Amino acid sequence: MDGQVTKEMMDSRRMPRHVAIIMDGNGRWAKRHGLARMFGHRQGVETVHRITEAAAEAGIRYLTLYAFSTENWNRPQQEVDALMELLVDTIAKETATLMKNNVRLLTIGDLARLPKTAQEKFRRCMEQTAGNTGLRLVIALSYSSRWELVRAVKQMVSEVQSGALRAEDIDEMAVSEHLTTAGIPDPDLLIRTSGELRISNFLLWQLAYAELYFTPCLWPDFTVEEFYRALLDYQGRERRFGKTSEQVKTDQEIKQ
Ligand code: IPE
Ligand code: IPE
Ligand code: MG
Repeated sequence: MDGQVTKEMMDSRRMPRHVAIIMDGNGRWAKRHGLARMFGHRQGVETVHRITEAAAEAGIRYLTLYAFSTENWNRPQQEVDALMELLVDTIAKETATLMKNNVRLLTIGDLARLPKTAQEKFRRCMEQTAGNTGLRLVIALSYSSRWELVRAVKQMVSEVQSGALRAEDIDEMAVSEHLTTAGIPDPDLLIRTSGELRISNFLLWQLAYAELYFTPCLWPDFTVEEFYRALLDYQGRERRFGKTSEQVKTDQEIKQ
């Protein structure tokens, strides 16, 4: 879709309830500007700020951001340390904005692997924003889908062994409730920036029926207009969930 995209062009009744984003391309952005990778990450934080505000304003209920994957622990130690420091600084600075925009912070992932100061900052921010009723901002930290699924399987096995769960009661709902996203609806729309066409171990179970949107735009360059473009594209799609197009149209007529 070319041309300018504005907020007015979107249908507020057809907003995705949950948008998940793989924020990618910070390193390439820095390289393109002749800077060290960390400058890209810092610029990426500005994008997080912008997109969170825009999502809250658009009436989206859940925004999940992939901030640090399990596999990202394998990056050079210097980059990992600097990223952890940036997380701590950002959370301290952004709590006021979250309060102003009525945003509630949630996290998913293996937070116990984060440095103690980062864990503490996130815990405090989650407590502080717990009463906010607007957008839920879910930050995925030290998260990967396979880590989460292995953890869920282990938990279910131990519950079956202790008698708290019956094997025959394990259904899709039970699996969902054992994931770190328990209580959060599945994403309707997944956006990945930077032109990579992959999922990189993100929400594999939860994305089963999400609409996928890929853009070559690097995360630090991702503007509110680009975000609206993704939302508008989503609104133009027909979500069939395995049914035929005719069935979907009849279902919609019944609803109206
Ligand atoms: C995404 O940007 C941020 C994180 C994974 C923490 P990258 O750091 O992956 O940027 P590229 O992919 O190298 O450009
Ligand atoms: C995915 O980006 C993880 C995050 C955005 C946090 P990566 O840059 O780590 O993904 P790959 O390695 O290119 O698949
Ligand atoms: Mg990357």
